[in-house]
Amino acid sequence: METKILDAGQVHIAALALREGRPVVFPTETVYGLGAPVFNEEAVRQIFSIKGRPSDNPLIAHIDQIEGAERLSDGLEEKFYRLAEAFWPGPLTLVVKKRAEVPSIVSAGQPTVGIRLPSHPVARRLIEAVGQPLVAPSANLSGRPSPTRSEDVLEDLSGKVEYVVEGGCCEVGIESTVLSLYGERPTLLRPGRIRREEIEEVLGEKVALPVKGGPILSPGMKYRHYAPNTPVRLVYRLEELERPFLLPTAQNLYAELREADRLGASVIEIYCDAAVQADEALMNRLLRAAGQIE
Ligand code: TXA
Ligand code: MG
Repeated sequence: METKILDAGQVHIAALALREGRPVVFPTETVYGLGAPVFNEEAVRQIFSIKGRPSDNPLIAHIDQIEGAERLSDGLEEKFYRLAEAFWPGPLTLVVKKRAEVPSIVSAGQPTVGIRLPSHPVARRLIEAVGQPLVAPSANLSGRPSPTRSEDVLEDLSGKVEYVVEGGCCEVGIESTVLSLYGERPTLLRPGRIRREEIEEVLGEKVALPVKGGPILSPGMKYRHYAPNTPVRLVYRLEELERPFLLPTAQNLYAELREADRLGASVIEIYCDAAVQADEALMNRLLRAAGQIE
């Protein structure tokens, strides 16, 4: 199959493919996503096979307006609406109790579904044109860094999908914050641009972190993630840097890791200055890329 790039004016072509059950890559403000209509089980199954994604890792459903959440969950609480009001459209995924109609392949057998309303205008137009929420994991092969540019999508998925909708460089550059509202206390499953403290301020209560050795709340976090082939060395003191190094930002991180692989670098040194160290989401991705956290 030849993979074609569509521009933002050709969203209707991508929407038609999706309505017919064929997965399409589209841009969001965080990273590019590999989309399929949430209620089309066969199309969702194709996503797992294209990515080589383990079937116990659930998918996020993307909506274009808040009302879309009601097709996915009938147990939406006041906290959900408060967070949606504060942070959507934007890089926050809320995990809530799912409706029985949401296929279990989407939730990987869990009773919950992750919902996000992205801010990228192309993503929202596409979801609207399809007429139902789109599930979309990051559009990389499983285990590779998420793609933040269409050329990075092609590096992994060329020949495996029919269309990639062009949306430029992703503004945020790392995946959304994932917050579970399912348990007793709101729990941060994945740090992202929307910070824990900002969420706590809106909720007026503390956000919990998943308990080590407790039930696995976010199956995706147990897989090796965000990893380039080039070994990554994190350096915390300037004088310990040995070679040209990278001062990372969330926006450039994944593209730079892929670039190091393309150049065949023997090692990539990343300088974690005080600002980088203070960024919970960026440090999370860096430690994963360096293989220091699972
Ligand atoms: O920014 C993003 O979230 C991007 C863009 C495309 O929206 N998507 C993304 O999807 O990063 P993915 O599949 O690469 O990561 C989704 C993460 C995984 O760690 C998964 O386990 C977790 O969210 N997740 C999804 N649904 C969940 C659920 N019902 N319960 C717990 N964790 C869930
Ligand atoms: Mg991913």
